[in-house]
Amino acid sequence: MTATTGKFITVEGSEGVGKSTNLQFIADCLQAAGKTVVMTREPGGTPIAEQIRDVLLASAYGSMATQCELLLMFAARADHLGQVILPALQRGDWVVCDRFIDASYAYQGAGRGMADRDIAALEQFVLQGLKPDLTILLDAPAEISTARCGARGVSDRFEVEEAEFFARVREKYRQRATDEPARIALIDASGSLAEVQAKIATVLSERL
Ligand code: TMP
Repeated sequence: MTATTGKFITVEGSEGVGKSTNLQFIADCLQAAGKTVVMTREPGGTPIAEQIRDVLLASAYGSMATQCELLLMFAARADHLGQVILPALQRGDWVVCDRFIDASYAYQGAGRGMADRDIAALEQFVLQGLKPDLTILLDAPAEISTARCGARGVSDRFEVEEAEFFARVREKYRQRATDEPARIALIDASGSLAEVQAKIATVLSERL
């Protein structure tokens, strides 16, 4: 992997934990500290990856083979990495990404039941050792996420999953935070926005 100078921050969590609002907050904090920030998301972030995202999220196609889902996530990631993330880091910009590799282990792994070793093989193939410098995991009980999610209206192909699916996703995220405490900061996202953002600001100043 080519040496990089910017930092790569990812934000993870189940649906409805407040990722979008807090992503903007993180970008604002970094910009206030003088960093040039690229905000992006997965699946997506390039024209091709956004088209793959549309296929992945559309409920209209009905079910999708789990291998197809996993491969499309990584196909989108490969394009995103090559066209957006690596060039930004090499310019010295800071990248703030809404979801990344941990989501594949949480959703395709724990959620859909795919083996970690298969995901790890694709991780090695596509990321070649690149890891986020910091991952902020917004964690909230499944009931809070499903309630906030339900309030949003139209559901995509993931949002229609049953409560046990999201319980497995959450557990996997928490497990990864336990396994990689130096990279993943678990933040309790069940409190007020002000409380959550105060915790995020502390993590940013302590870890970066
Ligand atoms: P979003 O709603 O946070 O934008 O993400 C879209 C959906 O994609 C979300 O339900 C989680 C899912 N997802 C995966 O299943 N695996 C992945 O690797 C990524 C990046 C997202």
